[in-house]
Amino acid sequence: MTDPAANASIDHVLIEDRLFPPPAEFTADAIIRSDQQYQDMYQRAKDDPEAFWREEANEHLHWFEPFGEVLQWEAPHAKWFVGGKTNASYNCLDAHVAAGRGDRTAIIWEGEPGDTRTLTYRQLLSEVCKAAAALQELGVQQGDVVSIYMPMTPELAITMLACARIGAIHSVIFAGFSAESIADRNNDASAKLMVTSDGLHRRGKVLELKKTVDEALAKSPTVQKCLVLRRTAQDDVPMTEGRDVWWHDIVDGQSDDLPAEPLDSETTLFILYTSGSTGKPKGIRHTTAGYNLWAKRTFQWVFDHHDDDIYWCTADCGWITGHSYIVYGPLAAGATCLMYEGAPNYPAEDRFWELVEKYQVTILYTAPTAIRAFIKWGDQHVDKHDLSSLRLLGSVGEGINPEAWMWYHRKIGNEKCPIVDTWWQTETGGIMMSPLPGITATKPGSCTRPLPGVVPVIVDEAGNDVDAEHGGMLLMGQPWPGMLRGIWGDEDRFVDQYWSAVPGKYLTGDNARKDGDGYYWIMGRIDDVINVSGHRLSTIEVESALVSHDAVCEAAVVGRPDDLKGQAIAAFVTVADVEPNEELRNELRQHVRKQIGALAQPDDIRFTATLPKTRSGKIMRRLLRDVASGREVVGDTSTLEDLSALAKLREED
Ligand code: WT7
Repeated sequence: MTDPAANASIDHVLIEDRLFPPPAEFTADAIIRSDQQYQDMYQRAKDDPEAFWREEANEHLHWFEPFGEVLQWEAPHAKWFVGGKTNASYNCLDAHVAAGRGDRTAIIWEGEPGDTRTLTYRQLLSEVCKAAAALQELGVQQGDVVSIYMPMTPELAITMLACARIGAIHSVIFAGFSAESIADRNNDASAKLMVTSDGLHRRGKVLELKKTVDEALAKSPTVQKCLVLRRTAQDDVPMTEGRDVWWHDIVDGQSDDLPAEPLDSETTLFILYTSGSTGKPKGIRHTTAGYNLWAKRTFQWVFDHHDDDIYWCTADCGWITGHSYIVYGPLAAGATCLMYEGAPNYPAEDRFWELVEKYQVTILYTAPTAIRAFIKWGDQHVDKHDLSSLRLLGSVGEGINPEAWMWYHRKIGNEKCPIVDTWWQTETGGIMMSPLPGITATKPGSCTRPLPGVVPVIVDEAGNDVDAEHGGMLLMGQPWPGMLRGIWGDEDRFVDQYWSAVPGKYLTGDNARKDGDGYYWIMGRIDDVINVSGHRLSTIEVESALVSHDAVCEAAVVGRPDDLKGQAIAAFVTVADVEPNEELRNELRQHVRKQIGALAQPDDIRFTATLPKTRSGKIMRRLLRDVASGREVVGDTSTLEDLSALAKLREED
């Protein structure tokens, strides 16, 4: 048994020492190409944030009126670029047209059925103006909340930017949520208008969004009007007289000249609901100038964006990744973005690779859950396509297990594309830690180093700094422009949840460790730590050891109560192409023992067909904890992607 005082930090058990320096050709052409350049920026941003961000904001945003003070910080309340006036829609659109770049392609879009559209910056601007004028005609004013429940069509981005243009606040709700979830969000935000479509295409079927919205609107008294885009060919779309309006009836005829409203830097740009692990979802609030600047600069730094890039982020605009890295970051940077409506496995499992080849995608940004699915579906789908246009790969949403990282590197990147494993959160607005692809030698499973302006701090449960090589709670020691400004309508929760562990420092809710090279390793959520005989272990390390076995596709590890050890380790495992039996179970135990040590050897291993995941693809370990300990599953399951996954797990029990 270890000394109980040691319990406060987390033991690091999995050794990963592979190192991948950036290819010399990549570095030669990279925007940030020397470590010194990064070190200089980092130090300036840390030592004199006001000077650093003053320069950044002046250079990279358009100001209708200049700001005075760079930062007013009365923890936990930050005001950035005080008194300035800007507009995110202007920065993403008008700025490019004004600079003579209006004919550049902004969005290349492909629908699931294979229909396509291309919009230049000038065309996108005119669509956004028309949509903004329509919103105004429907009574939307500055400060009103507009709920958006739409498929991944250009109109989704257009609606977001139209809101930004007139100072309305968008609240995008992922188009897979139930009527109940939509109504909860509408009510929490007092949404005034809802924008949706008749339906969407998903795996060859039409999902009737409008019907779900109707159900939600019956319970959303604040919503006065509903704007409906025609996306599918349904003929019996229910339209409520006096409330519902077709997009083509009200948007198409509007003037395409509507100047962007000069908005105060701290004007709320959007709220985005994210689930707490328990309790009701919280509306994370982001504001105009700081967020827009953070999204733009982090996009440019991390994705090394060049004018001839074709950039594809596979996320949905219903998540923060879509907000920051489909809309506000890349468009502010003038990038050409591919946007895809549908599923990765429709009509077949090679759809993503077909898209990469067809549009000559150079930068691909996707999630570990997708990567693990591709591995499971088999290399033959990848092999059908020429992926040689790719030069950079990104990952976001969860930790990427080293074995999945290696597959991404070999199979998709052909060993020549740097991988940026980007760590951040809805709350942080944009990427916080990530390799810079021209300079950072990567280690599979590490998000490496903080970006300029990010000052990570790791502490134990008592709030003391943790030694190198031990894990603890990850906090942010300084405010940054993209940080959340609050939780919509719930100041107490904002203060409690993020600012009370160490006063004045932002609590991320994740655990992390910093290695001897100054690289950070995310060790999972604070609640996910397992305490085995006084050793605090991170779930991701045990999971990564399991996934490094050839037979294993995905693994989720949780603790369950154990009389002797405090907690025992329970692992849920999905396998490909093998018979899950007792022999394999023993083999996996031995495998973990060899990789990590006896301490981390799972007590239970359950083979399962699927793992319960959130709609954004994160494994829901909280539910698995209940299943593993034979408890009734309690707490919020509204973010669960597939309820039957839970039922199946219990049957397998
Ligand atoms: C949580 C935030 C980041 C935008 C999409 C998800 C986990 C995210 C990584 C990564 C390890 C990661 C963390 C974080 N996470 N990226 N690269 N490595 N963990 O946003 O839904 O707000 O989730 O996702 O636990 O706190 P989100």
